[in-house]
Amino acid sequence: MAFRKVAIAGATGNLGPSIVNELVNQGFEVTVLSSSGNTSALPSAVKVIKVDYSSQDSVVSALRGQEAFISTIPKHDQQPALIDAAIAAGVQRFIPSEFGSNTIGNEKVRALPVFAGKVKTQEYLRSKQDQISYTFLITGLFLDWGLNLGWLANLKGKTDINDNGDSVHSFTLLTDIGRAVAGVLKHPEETKNRGVYVQTAALSQNQVLKIAGKVKPEFKAETEQVDLAEVEKNAYAELKKDGGNIGLAMVSFIKISIFKEGYGNLWDEKNDNELLGVKGLSSSELEDLVAKSF
Ligand SMILES: NC(=O)c1ccc[n+]([C@@H]2O[C@H](COP(=O)([O-])OP(=O)(O)OC[C@H]3O[C@@H](n4cnc5c(N)ncnc54)[C@H](OP(=O)(O)O)[C@@H]3O)[C@@H](O)[C@H]2O)c1
Repeated sequence: MAFRKVAIAGATGNLGPSIVNELVNQGFEVTVLSSSGNTSALPSAVKVIKVDYSSQDSVVSALRGQEAFISTIPKHDQQPALIDAAIAAGVQRFIPSEFGSNTIGNEKVRALPVFAGKVKTQEYLRSKQDQISYTFLITGLFLDWGLNLGWLANLKGKTDINDNGDSVHSFTLLTDIGRAVAGVLKHPEETKNRGVYVQTAALSQNQVLKIAGKVKPEFKAETEQVDLAEVEKNAYAELKKDGGNIGLAMVSFIKISIFKEGYGNLWDEKNDNELLGVKGLSSSELEDLVAKSF
């Protein structure tokens, strides 16, 4: 039977609001756990509980009566404590803060230092699956975020073309991630103790630049070719260096997982879109999205 009573931690960040809005629109009973209490942008239908994540009692008491718990917090080493609290409160399903690269199906991605916390959380959940079930949701780069940040294509400046720019990867809109989470909650058995893959579109960087030229003929793409093997080598060198730029290295590892061939970043042929109610975009919807990104 579908889960109806769901809690979410980290709902006030980049991803959380899209999930909350979709769950509320689909009639789920949503409770938001928040450390800051900065929840004014969330729909009034949600119940907000201010929590102190350093206190297990605080989190357990906020989770009592909930059937599922979604984490979108950015601090992955804090998730095992959330899982313990969920178990203590009797929650049945935990959806950890994944929502990105293929950390479940590709060993090269799993080995990238930036994903160590996500991988440890997965291992922790697997070790507790007799007490709580889980679903890992793999989405690739957020499509709208990737356009706004200029990672997929920078329509306001120079685009870094990763390797040849022709390889195709899976990307998901924030709204579709909300739909996919709702889909998991509506299909507990089919999504139990496994990873699910969703995508809004499979695209290459060169395809996006081509669409940009179609919707705005005066647009002239400014590009610079980037060799991802070199980026990877430099990122590991930064990690080894005294006073190295760890932040830059981590961003490099994320880009490698999204764009480098061999990193399992395309699930166009086999994914869970249909089960989870994610439809993808028609060509004209894709053109509208790109047109809005100038
Ligand atoms: N695929 C992609 O393109 C992509 C892009 C960005 C992020 N992601 C992934 O999506 C997930 C969510 O990322 P996000 O960018 O939405 O996160 P975020 O905006 O950095 O943070 C989300 C919320 O988590 C809470 N939070 C912040 N620091 C915390 C801490 N130390 N402990 C507990 N809670 C904390 C805050 O909510 P309160 O103040 O309400 O507690 C914050 O608003 C992550 O797993 C990230 O890797 C993927």
